[in-house]
Amino acid sequence: MRKTKSARSLYLSEVFSKEDALLFQIRQAALEEGVEHMQISAYEGRILQFLCQALQVSKVVEIGTLYGYSSLMMARVLPEKGKLFTLDLSMERQEKAKRLIQSDPSAKKIQFISGSAMDSLSRLETLGEGPFDMVFIDADKSSYLNYLHWSNRNLKSGGLLVADNTFLFGAVYGELMEGRNKDDTALQVMKQFNQEVANQDVYISTLIPTAEGLTVGIKK
Ligand code: DHB
Ligand code: MG
Repeated sequence: MRKTKSARSLYLSEVFSKEDALLFQIRQAALEEGVEHMQISAYEGRILQFLCQALQVSKVVEIGTLYGYSSLMMARVLPEKGKLFTLDLSMERQEKAKRLIQSDPSAKKIQFISGSAMDSLSRLETLGEGPFDMVFIDADKSSYLNYLHWSNRNLKSGGLLVADNTFLFGAVYGELMEGRNKDDTALQVMKQFNQEVANQDVYISTLIPTAEGLTVGIKK
């Protein structure tokens, strides 16, 4: 599943993807666990940071922590009183993410929540933690519509929706990446997800053509 890098993507990663020691360490942790391909690139992390800063984002829900690479990148550009709730099914992974990130000054802005994302989202909703300035979706692909519908209810007007892997490894435009199995449920879900976010009555939106596809929308 290794991606072949074009000269263009190498250039982008050389110039816009400088990582400090901690980000590098998190990347190494993912590499050791064989899940580095699931983690956003430093270049994509910069896009998240740019969007957070541009829209003065303060309160974020992230669905899919992995080892906290994107959590840390976003937390670093949130204001001092900013807050990022990051959700992941695996408690073990979250414990590792917590240990990795704890030394960073931005760690105090991050709240880790493990367990089923839909359960955690319901709890955040019931507790009245919202409305949120941003939701970043980067978890199980067949649940993206559920995450979108939660976001529709819990993003503030002017809030930012971002979702990774919205090309679904090429499947949405009929070119599934080599080494990838066809997942019909995820494919139907992702097509519907992009259609719904593309509806300009609901979101001002586009799909940024990163290697994986990054759908972005500002809620009307
Ligand atoms: C997978 C998940 C991701 O979020 C990603 O960016 C790449 C791959 C996966 O489930 O394989
Ligand atoms: Mg992803």
